[in-house]
Amino acid sequence: MAPRGASVRDEGNEMSTTARETTADAFERRLSTTPRSAQERDALIAQPAFGTVFTDHMARVSWSADGGWGDRRVEPYGPLLLDPAAAVLHYGQEIFEGLKAYKHADGSVWTFRPWANAARFAQSARRLALPELPAEDFLGSIEALVAVDLDWVPGADETSLYLRPFMFASEAFLGVRPARGVDYLLIASPVGPYFAGGVKPVSIWVSQDYNRSGPGGTGAAKCGGNYAASLLPQQEAYARGCEQVCFLDAATGTQLEELGGMNVFVVHADGHVETPALTGSILEGVTRSSIITLLREEGRDVVEGTVRLDDLRAGLSAGSVAEVFACGTAAVVTPIGRLAGTEFDLTVADGATGPVTAAVRSRLTDIQYGRADDPHGWMYHLA
Ligand code: COI
Repeated sequence: MAPRGASVRDEGNEMSTTARETTADAFERRLSTTPRSAQERDALIAQPAFGTVFTDHMARVSWSADGGWGDRRVEPYGPLLLDPAAAVLHYGQEIFEGLKAYKHADGSVWTFRPWANAARFAQSARRLALPELPAEDFLGSIEALVAVDLDWVPGADETSLYLRPFMFASEAFLGVRPARGVDYLLIASPVGPYFAGGVKPVSIWVSQDYNRSGPGGTGAAKCGGNYAASLLPQQEAYARGCEQVCFLDAATGTQLEELGGMNVFVVHADGHVETPALTGSILEGVTRSSIITLLREEGRDVVEGTVRLDDLRAGLSAGSVAEVFACGTAAVVTPIGRLAGTEFDLTVADGATGPVTAAVRSRLTDIQYGRADDPHGWMYHLA
């Protein structure tokens, strides 16, 4: 199990855990009697959109305050039987994760830094007063589900099997307290690029009216509530002709925090790179930490600090800021081509993909898709 307080940056822990036991064999296979035919499946994964198609099965583990974690199983994918009084429907006690399984040229299937996701899932659980799922179960559920639905891992360029672990309060009880009955599930979805237009620069609306999180809040946890809070500002972004929203810190309203579901990086013309520090209200992205490592390896100064909106605007206007990009598991590395707010509308990198953004994207995806060596031991063999 990941040690308490383990961080996605804890690489020593990550590398030494690749050989650890998982509970994959403890997942009972209760297989679907009506799986999609090979023909139907192949048609579904031929040109996958993001998060619209799901595999034939899901993995599941249930928890009770009295019995702890148990009943590990892989069962047919399908609607959940949920009591209308289930606490998650009322108080939002829920967390999730996102990672991917990649098919390499030799047909083998791998995932990327899953122990980092397991550690973050445990951190999120603590913040939402949910039980911590042992990392061996987190990994075990992935191994068990991917083994059963292996044929759903797509092989075309820029495609993968997106893995969505989540946990929620399933106890039927309307009192406001941590639930005594909880379910953990893992579902899987063959995906292509997160943005419908493929990999191309996106436009960002900087929200100056709404915050995603505040000091002492749940911003560092990957919980549904943070994403719910981002939806109205996201709508505002659409109304302003932008594709994504960027949030500022709640305390001063002057510093960049993160996008609705991605971390953000600023590349300066002198070569150094900045990204908002992990202040407690920002998600500690696995892709974020990997990019910091990769950029530092190529000799760049990467500063995790305060990224002030005023400085960014001035830098874009003066040309001292060369590129801005967003990153996350789903969106990988996504160039930002335009940054707008109530008093400004600025083009970034002439609206194109800058060279630093393109290079770090290639470096990362080359590792993930097995086209380059993996010097950090980030890849985890699934099948
Ligand atoms: C991810 O990058 O995996 C995310 O969770 C972002 C978003 C799809 C919610």
